[in-house]
Formats: sequence, structure tokens, C-alpha cells
Amino acid sequence: AHIEEVAAFTADDLQAVEAFRIQYLGKKGLLNDFFAAFKTVPNEEKKAYGQAINELKTAATEKVNGLKEALTDKAADAGKYGDLTRPAESVSLGARHPISIVKNQIIDIFSRIGFNVSEGPEIEDDWHNFTALNLPEYHPARDMQDTFFIQTDPDILLRTHTSSVQVRYMENNQPPIRTISPGRVYRNEAISARSHCFFHQVEGLYIDKDVSFADLKQTLQFFTTEMFGKSEIRLRPSYFPFTEPSAEVDVYWGLETETDYRITKGTGWLEIMGCGMVDPNVLSNCGIDPNEYSGFAFGMGIDRIAMLLYGIPDIRLLSENDVRFLEQFKSAL
Ligand code: PHE
Repeated sequence: AHIEEVAAFTADDLQAVEAFRIQYLGKKGLLNDFFAAFKTVPNEEKKAYGQAINELKTAATEKVNGLKEALTDKAADAGKYGDLTRPAESVSLGARHPISIVKNQIIDIFSRIGFNVSEGPEIEDDWHNFTALNLPEYHPARDMQDTFFIQTDPDILLRTHTSSVQVRYMENNQPPIRTISPGRVYRNEAISARSHCFFHQVEGLYIDKDVSFADLKQTLQFFTTEMFGKSEIRLRPSYFPFTEPSAEVDVYWGLETETDYRITKGTGWLEIMGCGMVDPNVLSNCGIDPNEYSGFAFGMGIDRIAMLLYGIPDIRLLSENDVRFLEQFKSAL
């Protein structure tokens, strides 16, 4: 009966274990009583009696040690983890990166007017990044984009713009073409608050029969209105080897209200992208007949637009992964 009692015993704290120990194993405990009674047991029963009390002693000792150990571990765990029965803390969700937020917005706007998304490699060859785009070797305009080359092979480079994706797209698809190409690009520039050796672009390409400059303007106006709200744009003549004519697009950036959070300083015309009618040479380089088709292209920097929209003063913040910076975009989608 005692053996069963010992086996069934449990305790929630060390005090209870100690009381149990005294009850069985203490000086005035049950076991000592049993041992004392040994003398009075008839000889023929001594053997069984002895075995029984030894068994009881072992069981009680093991019980006490086991319970002590378990309770001490539990106490240590509680110290380490606190109250293990309390409700869990809420999981802290990350924030989307501002570059992704703005990129997704741009993709969303252009997808509403029929543009799909195309992507290509960041490590490019000379043909797709330059030559096909009307920038033959030794063309001075190559200097517009300082390039990282793979030292052992001047044909392999880090793309300087995602126009390379447009070349690949035209090589593989016939018009009508409506595609935008978001991605990271690299330029060998000194790193400062305003420029980095890598940044992100979205370039767009529209090729079909009878595409005109008016279509380009209308598309850009649609985009800037969707992106920035009420917006006025201005096109300034410019030069790109792959478009003719070419233009730079400015948006008028003004404070709409005194509490407009988007810009910390500066209002006025701000350049946000380059654009133009695709040069017929580029079309034929990519296997599209320039006598049948025409088109426009444009390209913008995502980093720059994100900086404008969120009032980010330094482009380096976008790649430093400082959680204090990134956490601020938790409420943005
Ligand atoms: N590729 C140009 C750049 O990286 C942008 C551009 C794209 C300009 C398409 C005109 C047409 O600056």
C-alpha cells in the first residue's frame, strides 16, 4: 500500500516534496519505524519484510530526487522564459521596402493600360546593353553611363539601364508590344546622398502601327496623374542614342497643402524620366520592321521617385537596411 502511495505522489513545489521526504525518510519517518519494527517480525517473514522496506526506501528516495530535479528545472525555465502560460506576444510583421512599394504602384498603373511586365538579367552583354540600342563601340554617348565591366571580358557587364530588357523583349516578340521592365541597374558612380552605384529603374516600351509622339505624351500624362495626383508635366528636348526625338519629362512638384508630407524641400519642375520615339535603327537591330512599326520608350528611376514621394533625403538609406528607417513603411502598401 505504501509503495503505491509513493508512486502516485506528485508535488507542485519543493516544500511539498520536503514534507513527503520527512514523512518517509526523515528521522522519525515511516521507514525508520519500519526498520525499528524489523526486530519484532517473525524469522520466517524477515526476508520478505526486509525486501519490502528496502524497496519502499528506494522508491521514496527516487521519488524525492526526481521531483526535486523537475521542480528546480521548472523554476529555472520560468526564470528564463517568464510565465509560460501567458498569452503569446503578437508577431511583429515587417514592412515592404519603399522601392518595392513604388515599383508595385508603377506596375499597377501601367498594367491598367495594357502593359505587361518583362524582366532580364542584371549581368548583360554589350549587344543588349549598348550596341543594339544604337550605341556602337566607341560611341561617345557610352560615357553617359559609366559602366562596370567584368575585367576578363569586356563583352560582359552589369547593365546600366533596363533598356537591355526591351531589346531582349523585341528580339523575342513581334508588335503590338506594350511592356514595362523594372529592375536593378548599375553605374560606376561616386556614392553620395544623390547617387549610388546601383539603383532601380522602370523602363517602358510601346510598339505598334502608327504610334506617335502624341500617344507618348498621353501615356505619360496618365501615368503622372495616377502616380502623383493632379500633375502638370513638361517635356524638354533631350538626347538618347536609342530614341529620336528624345525628351526629358518634368513634373511640377508643389505643396498641395501645408501638411503635405511628401516633400521636405523644394517645389518647382522636377525631372523624373527620359523618353522618346524608338530610333528606327533600334527596331531593325531587334528584328522589327521600322517601315511597318513605330513606338515610344521611356525610363525612370524608382529610387528617385520613392525619395520624392516619401521625402527621403539620402539615396543611401534605401540600401543600408536600417530597421529604424524601414519600419516607417509599415503602414504603406
Ligand atoms: N535608358 C535611359 C536611361 O537609363 C532612359 C530612357 C529610356 C530614355 C527610354 C529614353 C527612352 O537613362
